[in-house]
Amino acid sequence: MSAIMRSRETKTASSVLDVRKDFPIFDRPTRGKELIYLDSGATTQKPRAVIDAVSQFYEQTNANIHRGNYQLSLDATHAYEQARQKVAAFLHVTDTSEIIFTRGTTESINLVASSLGRLLLKQGDEILVSAMEHHSNIVPWQLACEHYGAVLKVIPINDAGELLLDEYRKMLNPRTRIVAVTHLSNALGTINDIKTITQLAHDAGAVVLVDGAQWVAHHPTDLSALEVDFYAFSGHKLYGPTGIGVLYGKRAWLEKMPPYQGGGDMIKQVSFARTTYAELPSKFEAGTPDISGAVGLGAAIDYLNSLGMAKIVQQEDVLLKYLERRLQEVPGLSIIGTAARKSGAVSFVLDQPVMVPYDVGVRLDLDGIAVRTGHHCCQPLMDRLGLSATIRASLGVYNPASDIDALVESLLRLRQIQLPMRVSASTAIDSEPVYPEAFAESPEAAAEQLVDEFSFLDDWNDRYQYIIDLGNKLPAFPQSERIEVNRVHGCQSTVYLSARKRPRTVNTLDFLADSDADIVRGLIAILQRLFTGQATSSILAFDVDALLEKLGLDKNLALTRRNGMASMIQRIKSMAQAIESSCVGCAKC
Ligand code: ALA
Repeated sequence: MSAIMRSRETKTASSVLDVRKDFPIFDRPTRGKELIYLDSGATTQKPRAVIDAVSQFYEQTNANIHRGNYQLSLDATHAYEQARQKVAAFLHVTDTSEIIFTRGTTESINLVASSLGRLLLKQGDEILVSAMEHHSNIVPWQLACEHYGAVLKVIPINDAGELLLDEYRKMLNPRTRIVAVTHLSNALGTINDIKTITQLAHDAGAVVLVDGAQWVAHHPTDLSALEVDFYAFSGHKLYGPTGIGVLYGKRAWLEKMPPYQGGGDMIKQVSFARTTYAELPSKFEAGTPDISGAVGLGAAIDYLNSLGMAKIVQQEDVLLKYLERRLQEVPGLSIIGTAARKSGAVSFVLDQPVMVPYDVGVRLDLDGIAVRTGHHCCQPLMDRLGLSATIRASLGVYNPASDIDALVESLLRLRQIQLPMRVSASTAIDSEPVYPEAFAESPEAAAEQLVDEFSFLDDWNDRYQYIIDLGNKLPAFPQSERIEVNRVHGCQSTVYLSARKRPRTVNTLDFLADSDADIVRGLIAILQRLFTGQATSSILAFDVDALLEKLGLDKNLALTRRNGMASMIQRIKSMAQAIESSCVGCAKC
């Protein structure tokens, strides 16, 4: 590393450490260690200024807005409208009525898809989205397409994760009504050239919506220069509260568009015969909004302005390059998304040997490191890249270079772990399934034994390792059983489960299962200890949730993991049910 580079990084580190003090969450250890938060792409942490603004609002200003003629309501209205002005200034928008408060990016996009859809779309019209969109910039358009008979077209990307502008140019035609793209990809960190995309769309007569969810916290946003028609973002990714978001829309469109939701505050006059609507922005803000959220968002904008967006860009740019450079030190690590212009996040996978992203995420968590793993709500993008998931480290103003060092050191340690020989679908040697005997005389007895064993393990670290060890002892799962009918979906990893009625028994269930994720194999091992070789009636009667609570798994497993486990349990129980209902005790088997 050059001396200049080192001194830049040191300088950045000291100012980041000052900023870090503004975020009370960093006083709280995680898994007994200092929190290393590299998941700002999912949500940013909140500075004290935002937390105080929200609690002060409730302590001193709380009342409903736009409705009361008393001091408190006037003060609350003022605070809410002041927040709108701050958002407008932050986006370089002069007409404050073009700023609509919503629940977040998702609601903003749904609002446009629904309301602009009603105004514009008809059979055969085309909507363009890019291959790197988040589900929230795909599904609302699919719903609109279904409703109006429009067609969703996908602007392709190259292997680096860059949008193919020439292809985009060719796709634009007189039927193109709407172009909806992300400013900055949440999964890859690619920055899109919104100015060019917008100009081309406008030349073709199409309307442009930009998903700015990932962009706004990392760069200044000048909508007067970008000239997009709609721009959406969420407060919680901008160091503000959850539940508040913004839709910017050009007045000309917002005035023509029908309301998205009906209710209080969005009307001018209501009668049973006819209702007229309020002026902008109220027309699109039905019901009591998230007033404290807007106030908190205003405080977040003040906070970012006090740090200076230009300084944030500079600091995060250095950090992102440092992150990419240091990740290269990890053997078998490939960065996913190598666009020329990137910001905010780096996605990667670990190959040779493969470690599935979920396992990597859980192991990093044991070191106090928070990253996101999975498809990042971009399944079509993952399909395009031929992946099911990645590990994503995303940055915020509070990350010093030492957070990156900790991540890389943890990954290097991970690479030293001896992985058990894993049978993959392509290399599995075929063999007859060998089903284990029952582990105890009933699921209850097996559960008691598990609770007893877990009680000797002090913390999640030890329990996690114990579960992994159980998974490593799973009986072999034959190749012949790796077939679609045995796939258990909803596990966010590849899971096969094959169950049968044990021959020469009336109602005993056997099962084998396997997964490519260590943690899931461990969970399968727990289910095996509970259920294999047991009577179907006792399997059906057993309350797995109560056991998971006793083992402390309810609090330590991510929801996706618990849902995956629920899918496996569901599969085992349906098999048990099928055996129960078809078995008449004929003694044939
Ligand atoms: N969209 C958020 C992310 O990328 C939740 O993590």
